[in-house]
Amino acid sequence: MSNTSMNVSVIGTGYVGLGTAALLAHLGHQVTGIDIDNQKIEQLRNGQVPIHEPGLDALLESVKGNLDWSTSYDSVARADVVFICVGTPPGKDGTPDLQYVASAAEKLAPHLNGHAQVIVNKSTVPIGTGDYVQRLLEDHAPGYSHERHRVVSNPEFLREGTALQDSLYPDRIVLGGHPDALQIMARLYAPLIEQTFTPPASAPRPETYTRPAVVNTTLQSAEMIKYAANAFLALKISFANEIAGLCERVGADIEEVATGIGMDTRIGRRFLNAGAGWGGSCFGKDTAGLISAGREHNYNMPILQAAIDVNTRQRQVIIDKLIRHMRSLKGKRVTVLGMAFKPDTDDLRNAPAHDLIARLYQLGATVTAHDPIAMPRARREWAHLTYREASSVQDALHRADAVIIATEWQEYRDLDWSALLPSMRGCVIIDARNIIRTPIDAHVEQIGRNAPAAVPV
Ligand code: UGA
Repeated sequence: MSNTSMNVSVIGTGYVGLGTAALLAHLGHQVTGIDIDNQKIEQLRNGQVPIHEPGLDALLESVKGNLDWSTSYDSVARADVVFICVGTPPGKDGTPDLQYVASAAEKLAPHLNGHAQVIVNKSTVPIGTGDYVQRLLEDHAPGYSHERHRVVSNPEFLREGTALQDSLYPDRIVLGGHPDALQIMARLYAPLIEQTFTPPASAPRPETYTRPAVVNTTLQSAEMIKYAANAFLALKISFANEIAGLCERVGADIEEVATGIGMDTRIGRRFLNAGAGWGGSCFGKDTAGLISAGREHNYNMPILQAAIDVNTRQRQVIIDKLIRHMRSLKGKRVTVLGMAFKPDTDDLRNAPAHDLIARLYQLGATVTAHDPIAMPRARREWAHLTYREASSVQDALHRADAVIIATEWQEYRDLDWSALLPSMRGCVIIDARNIIRTPIDAHVEQIGRNAPAAVPV
């Protein structure tokens, strides 16, 4: 162990916990990953990674000398820093349910002891949760001391599918809490802040990358930064979708419009891709969370509500496009390509494909769905939906009347449509991710633009 190495416990082995454990082990710290799920811990001990994230298994394998997995909280006693990375699933009203955060705090509390220990909230939590965790520690830790045990908010900005790049080469590191605790965090992250670690083979450092900015602030501001960042990204996407609808009506092209406005460095091009609307576990929950925080303070947040409404409408926009071509969907075979909420993940939470499959079935269509990796998960999580699972794209399109591209997997970008179309019964393609780039002999509809179609739509 080098003299800068610290002892760290990471509670929770989901996307955030596994990414954090792998990152900190790679930075040279001694890390124990804790989860109450025995099966997950057994899998991890056997070198199996329970989630799909490109490069993560290779990184975990390369740092296994610095990593331990356990169902017990004992390692907290020797930890300098304890990360809470448990899930905050949406509760009944759509806002995060904090029961796992509370349970993690209560379980770790008895292990706090005489040395300075920082307890870090990395789970995405409502504003005020840092104070709540501090109170839980006070109540459940016999060895608790206000001076030695500080809660820090260190929100996570990684995206699923690019989690390693986002963690190793972040734009910024946000740290909220008492200055003494922030000093410990600065030591923990020193190799990341200075970029002195060796880039792992599975996630090389981008050529143009410079060091991350460090934002030292209060607990409340750090918690707000996380929510406001996600809400702003969600807003950007809804804005692009709203403008896309008008582009279609006035004959403009949303891609060119997004590029044109995105060149203004005050706006930026990223997250202006019109399409099926956002999915995933974060944007919906975080926008709802901010609105609900506003409500608690008797404060209206109409912009965020509009972003949610536009996102909901966007699923219907896709169905409407299909109905315009097919009139009735009764007895029609419709194929949905892509089930995951975005490429390079098998995460199905709030995926546009879910709503599309449900709606198509409701309208009388026979639905077939395909995804390069999310199908086994869909078998478990989408058992309530009625659709046929296709073994390949060829199988999915065989005798289909229409296709909706719901996720922009590379495999779908690379499809040779001229070879596929003859096996279809119809030739309507709703490209809800604007990935078709060359004219093809079908009725192609995209979002906010005229498709490069050989057949006039
Ligand atoms: C998002 C944020 O991007 C991360 O910074 C944040 O850390 C994370 O939430 C979180 O809070 O945990 P993630 O949900 O993994 O990350 O995925 P994104 O890449 O942001 O995509 C979210 C959704 O927006 C996807 O359904 C995607 O298809 C959609 N999207 C994204 C668009 O429709 N258009 C775009 O231009 C960009």
